[in-house]
Parts: sequence; C-alpha cells; structure tokens
Amino acid sequence: MSTTTISPTTSHQRKKVTTLTFRQKKERGEPITMLTAYDYPTAMAIDKAGIDSILVGDSLGMVVLGYENTLPVTMEDMLHHARAVSRGAKSALLVGDMPFMSYQVSTEEAVRNAGRFLQNGGMDAVKLEGGRERADAVRAIVGAGIPVMGHLGLTPQSVHQLGGFRAQGKTASAAKRLLEDAHILKDAGAFSLVLESVPARLAEYISKQISIPTIGIGAGAGCDGQVLVTHDLLGLFERFTPKFVKQYANFHAEMNKAFTDYLDDVETKRFPAVEHTVEMSDDEWDDFQRLTLNV
Ligand code: KIV
Repeated sequence: MSTTTISPTTSHQRKKVTTLTFRQKKERGEPITMLTAYDYPTAMAIDKAGIDSILVGDSLGMVVLGYENTLPVTMEDMLHHARAVSRGAKSALLVGDMPFMSYQVSTEEAVRNAGRFLQNGGMDAVKLEGGRERADAVRAIVGAGIPVMGHLGLTPQSVHQLGGFRAQGKTASAAKRLLEDAHILKDAGAFSLVLESVPARLAEYISKQISIPTIGIGAGAGCDGQVLVTHDLLGLFERFTPKFVKQYANFHAEMNKAFTDYLDDVETKRFPAVEHTVEMSDDEWDDFQRLTLNV
C-alpha cells in the first residue's frame, strides 16, 4: 500500500489560510482581506471569492438578531453561528468573536470560552476587545494554544463607557494610549489587531510600529488589511450605515423586489406555473378515478 499522503486540496479549494499567512502577507506588503459571516451560504460565498479570513462577529447581535447593540449576544448564539460558518468555509482563517462577559470576569473563563470556539465552534482563532486591561486574558488564551486577535479603538462592547459609537484616538493622549495598547497586546501574544474607527494617520503609524498585522475598519488605507461587516457591504442592514462603509450592493432593495414580485405572482395566479408543477400520467389519473369512484 502506498504511503503517499493525498492532499484534500482540490483545484477549487485554496490552501488553508493560517495566522502564519497573515504574518507573511504583512511582511510582503500584501493587503489582508476579512469579512464577517454568520451563516453557511454567506461563508461559502466569501470563501469561494478568496477572502483571507472570516470573522463570526458579535455584530451578529445587530445585523442578524436585531438587537440595539452587541451586548445581549451570548456564547451560545456565537457558537451556533460559528458552526454554520465553519461548515461553509474551508480555506479562510475563521475567527470567533468573544461576546460581552465571556472573557471579562476571569482569565479562567476567558480561556474556557475561547476553547469552546475551537472545540465546539469550528473556529481557528478568537477575537476580543480591549487593550491593557485584557493583556492577562490574551496571554492566558495564547498560552492555551489559541490564536488571539485584539480589537482597539471603537470597541462596541464598551458602547456605554464610550458614550456611543464614536471614533477613538482623536486626541494626542488618546492616540498615545492606543499605541501603547497595541504594543501591550502584541507583547501578550496577539497575532493580529483590529483597529476600528481611529484616525487614518494614527492607524498607519501603529501599523508601521508593530510587527503583527493590523486589520482596519474605518481606520484608513494604511492598515495591513481591511474588514467590513458583510451586511453593510451588501446593503442588507437598513438601520444605519457607518460613514466608513463602502456599499457594494443593495440587497435590501433586491429582497424587497423579489418578495413583492412573489406576492404579486401568487395573488394574480402567475405562480406556480406549469413548469413548477408535478404532473401525473393520464393513465394513472384514470386508474385513480376508477379506484376512488366508490370511496
Ligand atoms: O463584530 C464585528 O463584526 C466586529 C467587526 C466590526 C470588526 O468586531
């Protein structure tokens, strides 16, 4: 029997993206691409398009579950959606977003919940929000062999502390603190860092200063990569669209048109047409009528 290993990679399936790929792309100056997904078909489409990484973001709470903010999202919500995404995407690096109160109470809980993302959620890495106050948690999770992505700037789980969804790092002292936090997270072992809603020149400066890749959202073109919430990009989330979003489609309008066309077709009896209908042969129908004559 041959001992040759047969790679599961087919011509349609790219090589698996890893944290090492992230580092290599930064070294080569190649932009890293990331999008959010919360379900199987979207994950499949994103993976097929060749996007490097998928974040199962806790933005789930707002764009899929209809909450006002991300605070009500639970570990169970996240794992349910993480599993669906992992079934759809085989090549992208999969990052599970740790929800509010899953890593703040103790480092033990942080490690246990991070582990659940890999063990029960099919994720390759986790993301958590915060700077120096999260260094111990990041160190402990990384110590357990789980890659961690940090998240600085506008950290939505702190929306009440920040006084709303507002840009961060706009004063000299706030910018200095953000730079320090980036170094602290890198030293704690984070493999990458999301920078959300911070001035472009600050994000570029941090990206040049630290050796791990930065992934920007509303942080300008100087980051090592970019991430967007897919529902914003597709025009699926109507409630509000942040200024930094580029909308590539208007799926909300498309959906609305499809649903009203369907409504119209059913009401006017244009649907279902013959081609949507199951037929029965005349012989069988005649037999059926004979059989049921006396029923
Ligand atoms: O939850 C999320 O989608 C995020 C991105 C905005 C980075 O954290």
